[in-house]
Amino acid sequence: MAQKTIWESFLSPVVRFLIDEEKLQRYALSIDWEEESNRFRSADVTIPAYYKQNFHGITGGYLNSSAAVSYDPITEYALPPNEAWVRQALIDAVKVQPRRILDLGCGTGSTTLMLKQTFPQAEVIGLDLSPYMLVRAEDKARIANLNIIWRHGNAAQTSFPDASFDLVTASLLFHETPSAVTQAILQESFRLLVAGGQVLILDGNQKTLRQLDWPNDIFEEPYIREYAADSVDARMGAAGFKEVRTEDVWWIHQVSSGIKPTLITGSAMQATVRQYSEGSIDSTIDNNDLEGLGSPAFGITV
Ligand SMILES: C[S@@+](CC[C@H](N)C(=O)[O-])C[C@H]1O[C@@H](n2cnc3c(N)ncnc32)[C@H](O)[C@@H]1O
Repeated sequence: MAQKTIWESFLSPVVRFLIDEEKLQRYALSIDWEEESNRFRSADVTIPAYYKQNFHGITGGYLNSSAAVSYDPITEYALPPNEAWVRQALIDAVKVQPRRILDLGCGTGSTTLMLKQTFPQAEVIGLDLSPYMLVRAEDKARIANLNIIWRHGNAAQTSFPDASFDLVTASLLFHETPSAVTQAILQESFRLLVAGGQVLILDGNQKTLRQLDWPNDIFEEPYIREYAADSVDARMGAAGFKEVRTEDVWWIHQVSSGIKPTLITGSAMQATVRQYSEGSIDSTIDNNDLEGLGSPAFGITV
């Protein structure tokens, strides 16, 4: 018999004690998960191999409705000193006035909702590989009366056009992706941003995690050691971002920021390059023109 992880033998019962299991059970039963998740499922999305393993002691990881039901109540205890405060650190690090925001690996949408609340005029899109997480996210947005677009997709390979966002975010995603996938996601973020656009990554503090060797055993996080040994800063630099910096959030978390540089400065070129400038998403192009991109991101009715 396989040895039980610390999560299974110790922490899971503790968390069970803290959460209202009956309420969760009622919520789980109130939704036809297969029918609802089918509304999001895209046939074009291929599930990568790394994603199909167990995360957080849940067999099949996020490809499972129980992941969507249990994620929020567990995460509340996994983000000390306070979940909303930790997520607010990402919001506070936004330097642009975003008109289009893409939240990669949005999960149940906790950060996505905060982004929409902070930037109500922005078109906000949450993208995730798990259609079950998207069902939960959509439900939360409906209850909060927030108009957010939810998309099934792979953050490393989205189908959105080049330069279609001026803010791309990811919270708590990179500790769950192999380094090569992290790099691919940052490169995709770079492609998706307008020049001058910002990428923001909230996750575990890599300096602190390097000192610890137990989070994988406790939380069943298959890539957390790889994440700890890595550097989000270095990967952002390799993807082409400038002004890269990482700030500690408490000593457990970190927020990393990078800006897509304005590579083309000639006035003739500016007419055709989508560019971010403060106060507007793009001073060089007609906003109406953006709607004609034919992108899955724009002009979508939800
Ligand atoms: C720990 S959860 C974080 C969810 C949310 N961002 C938050 O802050 O609570 C990681 C999420 O990333 C998603 N994910 C992992 N790899 C992904 C990928 N390549 N593309 C899109 N989503 C991915 C998972 O399905 C899961 O919902």
